[in-house]
Amino acid sequence: MGKIISISNQKGGVGKTTTANALAVNLKEKGYKVLAVDLDPQGNLSFSAGADTDMSATIYDVLKGELKTQYAVQRGTVVDIIPANILLSSIELEFTGAQREFLLRNALKPLIPLYDYILIDTPPALGVLTVNAFTASDYVLVPMLSDIFSLQGITQLEETIDRVRTQCNPDIQILGLLLTRHNPRTRFSREITGTVHMISSDLNIPVFETFIRESVALREAQSLQKSILDYAPACNAVIDYKTFTEELLEKGLTPCQKARMS
Ligand SMILES: Nc1ncnc2c1ncn2[C@@H]1O[C@H](COP(=O)(O)OP(=O)(O)OP(=O)(O)O)[C@@H](O)[C@H]1O
Ligand SMILES: [Mg+2]
Repeated sequence: MGKIISISNQKGGVGKTTTANALAVNLKEKGYKVLAVDLDPQGNLSFSAGADTDMSATIYDVLKGELKTQYAVQRGTVVDIIPANILLSSIELEFTGAQREFLLRNALKPLIPLYDYILIDTPPALGVLTVNAFTASDYVLVPMLSDIFSLQGITQLEETIDRVRTQCNPDIQILGLLLTRHNPRTRFSREITGTVHMISSDLNIPVFETFIRESVALREAQSLQKSILDYAPACNAVIDYKTFTEELLEKGLTPCQKARMS
């Protein structure tokens, strides 16, 4: 049965989409069956994975109940993906029913036996979309920049996950904080890293040993809709994401059993 991982942080531009893309590519490279789910109306993951968002079905159609989930899956240039586009932004207003937190969880259920990992990219907000992602997930991974504003948001994020744990999904676990676009050489970065570790022990959330360095090639690969492993296998950030994937798998992130090939 596949494991579902949300990549989430309500702060914008911290590397959620990049991490979702890089993790998806690396897990696939290791032979796992991976599905990416774009749950952000910005559709950035859909774009970088080479999915069509204009003419094809999206996660919005699925959540509205107008389409079976499997029909929204596209074979992207990178991995299988259920794309999103701007229509998804109306979901907050459209869905007001009592069970609205469970829409994604119910929609993904039939796909769980088909994949080893389902990765959900979330928007920079803690609204109904992110709550749907947490309700559907076994794990949450939190990318963050080593700056003070990122730190300020972590407590709020943790409170949201706690609320979901109490009300919708008792089994959700936080995998940890992943420092992205990190430059350990600056004094400022080192100071913040110290604070990150303090907060992590305060909130009892682990910090990954691997951090992701800044690399322009990563941005280029995304804008060209190429797999980062094909486009720039030797660039720092790509190497870091590979190491990070290994760290994640070593720390026990293994699917219950290999997914049935579809
Ligand atoms: N390690 C890195 N090196 C260089 N550029 C990076 C790195 N990680 C992310 N970026 C770039 O930073 C920008 C923001 O990253 P990304 O889109 O992954 O963040 P996000 O958290 O998903 O943003 P949003 O909250 O808007 O969804 C993008 O242009 C991305 O290409
Ligand atoms: Mg994003």
